[in-house]
Amino acid sequence: MTTQDSSFQTDALIADDIDAYLDQHQHKSLLRFITCGSVDDGKSTLIGRLLYDSKMIFEDQLAVLESDSAKHGTQGDQIDFALLVDGLAAEREQGITIDVAYRFFTTEKRKFIVADTPGHEQYTRNMVTGASTADLAVILVDARKGILQQTRRHSYLVHLLGIKHLVLAVNKMDLVDYDQATFDAIVAEYTEFAQEVGIENFTAIPISGFKGDNITAAPSATTPWYDGPALIAHLESVEVANTAAQERAFRMPVQWVNRPNLDFRGFAGQITSGTIKPGDAVRVVPAGKTSTVKTITTFDGDLDEAVAGQSVTMTLTDEVDCSRGDVITVADDPAEVSDQFCSTIVWMDETAMKPGRGYWLKIGSQMVTATVQAPKYEIDVNSLDHLAAKTLGLNAIGVAEFATDKPIVFEPYSNSRQLGGFILIDKFTNATVGAGMIEFSLRRAQNVHWQATTVTRDDHAVLKNQKPRVLWFTGLSGSGKSTIANEVEKQLALMNRHTFLLDGDNVRHGLNKDLGFTEADRIENIRRIGEVARLMADAGLVVLTAFISPFRAERRMVREMLPEGEFIEIFVDTPLDVAEARDVKGLYKKARAGELANFTGIDSPYEAPETPEIRVNTVDMTPVEAAEYIISQILPLK
Ligand code: ADX
Repeated sequence: MTTQDSSFQTDALIADDIDAYLDQHQHKSLLRFITCGSVDDGKSTLIGRLLYDSKMIFEDQLAVLESDSAKHGTQGDQIDFALLVDGLAAEREQGITIDVAYRFFTTEKRKFIVADTPGHEQYTRNMVTGASTADLAVILVDARKGILQQTRRHSYLVHLLGIKHLVLAVNKMDLVDYDQATFDAIVAEYTEFAQEVGIENFTAIPISGFKGDNITAAPSATTPWYDGPALIAHLESVEVANTAAQERAFRMPVQWVNRPNLDFRGFAGQITSGTIKPGDAVRVVPAGKTSTVKTITTFDGDLDEAVAGQSVTMTLTDEVDCSRGDVITVADDPAEVSDQFCSTIVWMDETAMKPGRGYWLKIGSQMVTATVQAPKYEIDVNSLDHLAAKTLGLNAIGVAEFATDKPIVFEPYSNSRQLGGFILIDKFTNATVGAGMIEFSLRRAQNVHWQATTVTRDDHAVLKNQKPRVLWFTGLSGSGKSTIANEVEKQLALMNRHTFLLDGDNVRHGLNKDLGFTEADRIENIRRIGEVARLMADAGLVVLTAFISPFRAERRMVREMLPEGEFIEIFVDTPLDVAEARDVKGLYKKARAGELANFTGIDSPYEAPETPEIRVNTVDMTPVEAAEYIISQILPLK
């Protein structure tokens, strides 16, 4: 079994690569499917059997792969299977290690890629990865055991991820003497469950992976009572040509702009829905400019028409602004644009989701910052109950609202996996920490507009005769932030500067009196302070803030809110033992005694700045010296 780094959308890219790759070599349709079940259900045996029964052709494929690997030369003479399943290196670096093995085989009628995901604990993220690009899922059940909790779990996930074709493979029929009543009872029970979840239909097949019954030819002599298709026959005949997608309005996320010379400017991408012809009117969203399609080009030359699923390069008759991340849509029915959403989120990281924190959100070729709110509820995948939740831990699934810093072009996931499915990436570790499916937009963006004011931020600054700035002090409790900030403000006032000092203890008596010291509350604390500091900087002030602000992510968030150069991070680098020995407010003592929970430095982390603009401490310098040093560093003030 091979293990590949992978992620929700990485897989979409991988699968596209595989599609393109295969299309160049064989003109057979491709079915991507996933098998769900544990080793005990006979999954490995079944996959082994599928591969074995198509072995000759599998070897032909290997030959093709071999020559292709040699061409690309990434692995010397060795076969580079990564060419098939690994996609882009940059994508991979973002990925998390997931045990999904992609196996590849063909029959006379069709090509197959099966994502084999282990059934053990980490099932959720593995399954999300494997299922996100699959057309069909085979849910394996042991005929002796019937429908189990995990059968329900897998079915629910597969349904959630939008897989329309389901096969209930009742395996190990040989061990129940090919008994029809056993099979019928399992199907009846599953039918009931399927209705509950909203699964519209499924195909039940009695099989024995071990003996080979109803795998390639049906009905097997052992199951004369079964007149449906054999598993392979069914996999070969299932209709996956995306007719539904072709009938919807045209959309193509732009992957890149192809500009070999000044006369050619082509927009390359894969059409996610609809059809398009030269002469059709299109609109580039989110900007909204319209134009007309001039040419549609592929490797094989120009096309008169292109449809959903095809990768093309398109030229337009006008010079419109259009770059990676934009979506070209039909002019009179463009995709929606919003910055507030409700979505289902699957959490995939060991570290729980942090409501309020900004994550990179990647949707299609768009990348924005998203802030997720505390979940509305978590879904118990066993009972389907909605549970109250403050966050989502590893493998948890929940429904939450999120906001993006820029409007994005989207479709509900139920209409489009490509424009409705997203991943969340940690800004520091670059790991994929979550995957999500947009359910709907909250549509606030359309109704709340930014009000342009006549007296601008620059006017405020000019009137005050100073350059606005935010001097952001960070450090442990008792490190000396407030004392130094106070001294800096005093000296600035003597220099006739207009300032305002926001101090942790004071703000927590007013604006933030509803907040405590949990991670989520601290994140919200800093978010609000950041917004206030920004407003004050807009008003032309030199703002000083003295908050522990223990997390890098939120300090960076505030930095990004402000114009370049206006955020000055000042690390009051007093060591913990010194701050604790001083213990001005007696809080360290309480924290050590267990009377105060979540105390920074004791049982709550402090993430020191790596590259602060200014570093001071209260060991080698007095507060006055520290203040003078800070002022020397921020001159000139205009
Ligand atoms: S922050 O972490 O959210 O930035 P902030 O600077 O607003 O913290 O508040 C820190 C001040 O609150 C400390 O200086 C201390 O006086 C007080 N405090 C009370 N409980 C705690 C705690 N658990 N951890 C840290 N500070 C606490």
